[in-house]
Amino acid sequence: MYRSTAKHFIMTLFAFLIAFSVHAEKLPNITILATGGTIAGSGATSTTTVGYTAATVGVQQLINAVPELSKISNVTGEQVFQIASESMTNEHWLTLGKRVNTLLAQPNVDGIVITHGTDTLEETAYFLNLVVKSRKPVVLVGAMRPGTALSADGPINLYNAVLIAGSPEAVGKGVLVALGDQIHGARDVTKTNTSTPDSFKTPELGMLGYVQGPKAHFYHVSTRKHTVETEFDISNLSALPQVDIVYGYANMNPVALNAFIAAGAKGIVHAGTGDGSVAAKVKPDLAAARKNGTVIVRASRVGNGIVARNGEANDDELDFVVSDTLSAQKARILLMLGLTKTSNTKELQRMFYMY
Ligand code: DGL
Repeated sequence: MYRSTAKHFIMTLFAFLIAFSVHAEKLPNITILATGGTIAGSGATSTTTVGYTAATVGVQQLINAVPELSKISNVTGEQVFQIASESMTNEHWLTLGKRVNTLLAQPNVDGIVITHGTDTLEETAYFLNLVVKSRKPVVLVGAMRPGTALSADGPINLYNAVLIAGSPEAVGKGVLVALGDQIHGARDVTKTNTSTPDSFKTPELGMLGYVQGPKAHFYHVSTRKHTVETEFDISNLSALPQVDIVYGYANMNPVALNAFIAAGAKGIVHAGTGDGSVAAKVKPDLAAARKNGTVIVRASRVGNGIVARNGEANDDELDFVVSDTLSAQKARILLMLGLTKTSNTKELQRMFYMY
């Protein structure tokens, strides 16, 4: 009798293991690359939603906090950095971009989720949108509240990001950003509020879709080139050209501009007032910088709309580039990568109308 019980138990266990492995084989293999931020933050009390410490919780703890992940993916985690994202650097971006490309080249990796602080999440997303050489999904996710807070948004944001990364609908859409049940494209998403959970928006140009169900629902795609369609390759880069941003305002002067030039900036993004306007006190120094070889991109501090070429300045005569609709912080990224290919302003302007 015992022999038949044991035989029955072994056969049941064997059947379960086969069923489990078949089920696991059907689930997408998603790698979570953790970089820090509030999603990995912790506060002193459950009502601490500001004044907490970012980048204190490791990737495995983030994964363990969302056991539902194992129902939608075979997930593995890597701690790439552990920083608050205001301290993200070009070197971090090169390390992260190379790691993403290495992983996505592996046939057993179906998608990548990157947990990240929200302060510069939109910038990292756009950088990766230009350098990732795969159509597989890459989804950046953050949180506006630490995991210790009441109604922390990190766990559900992480679950949604993994769901999107494993979705066939997300293939070929470019780098995505997932917070608050929404799916945004890397090029146009931006943080619009210092602290509220609905901070990430794609004003005017529109987000790409929602997570509900649990399913990724897409309604739009980006019209600009990204990932495998771009001309940028970071595989042999150990540094990016120095590009800095000067901010336009009433009573502006050229001190900051000239300090950046003196420090060796190869490019300057001028985040001007209105339609990228340049103050009369600043224009001579900006023109001189261009004549001395620094590439100048006219952007706007406004946040939405096209910076028109030859609108608020004679760009043809001054040999300036305009940012199209890119924010100043994203124009800096495109200019840095553009300068790894050329310093020809006609070629650089083409890139701003292409990416
Ligand atoms: N220090 C900010 C950062 O790491 C916290 C904001 C957040 O991650 O939501 O970006």
